[in-house]
Amino acid sequence: MKQYLTSCQHFLHGADYNPDQWLQYPEVLEEDIQFMKKAHCNVMSVGIFSWSFLEPEEGLYSFTFLDQVIDRLTANGIYIVLATPSGARPRWLAEKYPEVLRVGADGHKQQYSMRHNHCFTSPVYREKVRNINRRIAERYKDQKNIILWHISNEYGGECHCELCQQAFRDWLRGKYCDDLCKLNEAWWTGFWSHTVTDWQQIHSPNQTGESNDVLPGLFLDWKEFVTYQTTSFMREEIAAVREFTPDIPVTTNFMGPYQHLDYNYMRNYVDVISWDCYPSWHSERGDVVEAQSTAFAHDLHRGFRHQPFLLMESTPSNTNWLEICKLKRPGMHKLSSIQAIAHGSDSVQYFQWRKGRGGMEKFHGAVIDHNGKAEGRVFEDVREVGILLEKIDEIAGSHTNAQVAVVYDYRNRWAIEDAAGFQNLDKKYKRTCINHYKEFWKRGVNVDVINLDNDLSSYEILVIPMLYSISEKQIGKIEAYVAAGGTVIATYITGYVNETDLCYRGGFPGGALKDVFGLTADEIDSLNPSDRNAVSFQGRQYEVVDYCELITPVTAQPLAFYCEDFYKGKAAVLRNQYKQGKAYYIGCRDSGEFLDAFYDDVIKDSAIRHYELPYGVTIHTRESEEYEYLFVENYTTKSVEVHIEEAVRDLENNEELSGNTNVTIEGYGVRIFARLLRQGI
Ligand code: GAL
Repeated sequence: MKQYLTSCQHFLHGADYNPDQWLQYPEVLEEDIQFMKKAHCNVMSVGIFSWSFLEPEEGLYSFTFLDQVIDRLTANGIYIVLATPSGARPRWLAEKYPEVLRVGADGHKQQYSMRHNHCFTSPVYREKVRNINRRIAERYKDQKNIILWHISNEYGGECHCELCQQAFRDWLRGKYCDDLCKLNEAWWTGFWSHTVTDWQQIHSPNQTGESNDVLPGLFLDWKEFVTYQTTSFMREEIAAVREFTPDIPVTTNFMGPYQHLDYNYMRNYVDVISWDCYPSWHSERGDVVEAQSTAFAHDLHRGFRHQPFLLMESTPSNTNWLEICKLKRPGMHKLSSIQAIAHGSDSVQYFQWRKGRGGMEKFHGAVIDHNGKAEGRVFEDVREVGILLEKIDEIAGSHTNAQVAVVYDYRNRWAIEDAAGFQNLDKKYKRTCINHYKEFWKRGVNVDVINLDNDLSSYEILVIPMLYSISEKQIGKIEAYVAAGGTVIATYITGYVNETDLCYRGGFPGGALKDVFGLTADEIDSLNPSDRNAVSFQGRQYEVVDYCELITPVTAQPLAFYCEDFYKGKAAVLRNQYKQGKAYYIGCRDSGEFLDAFYDDVIKDSAIRHYELPYGVTIHTRESEEYEYLFVENYTTKSVEVHIEEAVRDLENNEELSGNTNVTIEGYGVRIFARLLRQGI
């Protein structure tokens, strides 16, 4: 069960550690190590931005500082996540080889600046990164405390230089089998006389040329290429370290539902999924909403490989790049850290261990503040989490059982957000996915957030919000899933176009989806921001905003009807029995109350275990061979009572609770229980 991290069987608790910024203060390393122990930290991520220390001049390597850091951490029993330093390059590299610098969508070449701004195609950059990675891997290959490679840092962005243009054209030739007719068909280039007659005519969408929405097929291919090229760069990085350390697993830190890369493709090339999580706790949108979005993102990362993931970065205090940098209220650090564990993380790690004296992150939350002391509120919060993780260490490596899947598809997001139509300002694809997801969150139901490449057979319910772009193959998969007894729930703007943004012929939803849902979605009305409609459902009216689809039932039974406008009385929500399964179609966006009532019915109608919980409270579970672990989280400031039916053991205080008890969860509190599933395995 724990094989994904071969050399470590424990929860990890630690931070990004940047002692390279403290070389003038040699006493800091030893001090830090003592503080790490005091904070119950057992891992540090090092070397993330260390390139200019490791290779101060081209070909001149200096490992003194990293040797010392690795030695001292190892001697003190602290695990090491070792980074490749490609996230920020030394000045000499940019000066000597300008091709490594990115060209923006405005056509301008960047100067040496920031980080994460290099060309992923540049053969020079690839070679230099390979070289430094090989050096690092060769030097530290026998260090027993290195448990994981941290490949680069938060890959992202895109480059429009000539090297990238050529690579894009080559990639397109591969994709379209060297056949321009196929490309012209896929991109519908007859539109505005855009026929491509030579591969060299193709250019990435950019500010002075083709915009994203003129030829959506071009835009979607460009986005896919950017993911491909970034991944190919990452794979070269990985190959370089694997040459020397074939047994050390690799990860790269993802960024949640970040829309510019398709992590569902990248995930295939790393051993461990990890991500950096920075919610806006205590913002005006409220902690419950924030908790639901964060839970969604955790479940997305767990869904990438259906195995535990690592919380690679989080803040122990405030996040300095948010508009308003709030402190975490008492309780929130423990609660948000355990939230990650509840959703399948095997670590709680921070950015960063110690605040740097200068640079733009000097006011970002860190475990050790500018007072240089291992004390105070933030430090004690961190220490508390460290102690708790040790107490609940038996949970590490356990898995999550989810009978529900919500589809969040990066490619669909690209397609729908840039489609000219509906509501052009903001179609709210991600928010819609979370709005459906939260109906399960509220009822303590585990959910996998996945795309349709996954095996669907184990899910009782599959939710596909706003799945505008869907390939014929994916349609076939959904059809087979429902035919075999699954329940699918779709919304307005589903199945309009294929994977290159060509509308399905014969009306919407495309192909066999019409039979699955037993209807046709004939037109869609977009509402002004102040417009309201309503649907009547089970004798009550629910407010409707943004979208109303005009639907003709074929075999589906209407469940709810529009109350206003010229389509008053027409079906708005429908249910169809398709072979062994059920298909629900929600043709309108509601303000929240309808979804609550709708999912209440759907969940009660299913065999899925669920809870009646106070507002802002949720339960998530993980399972080992012997135990089910229940995490009860309260995102409100008020203490609540939650009814637990089963006999459980409170893991924090080792208290046995007989079944049918009410347990108290303090405001911003969390409790962790173990329920025996199978004796003596
Ligand atoms: C992350 C990044 C870290 C640090 C952190 C601050 O996105 O990987 O290096 O900048 O943000 O929140």
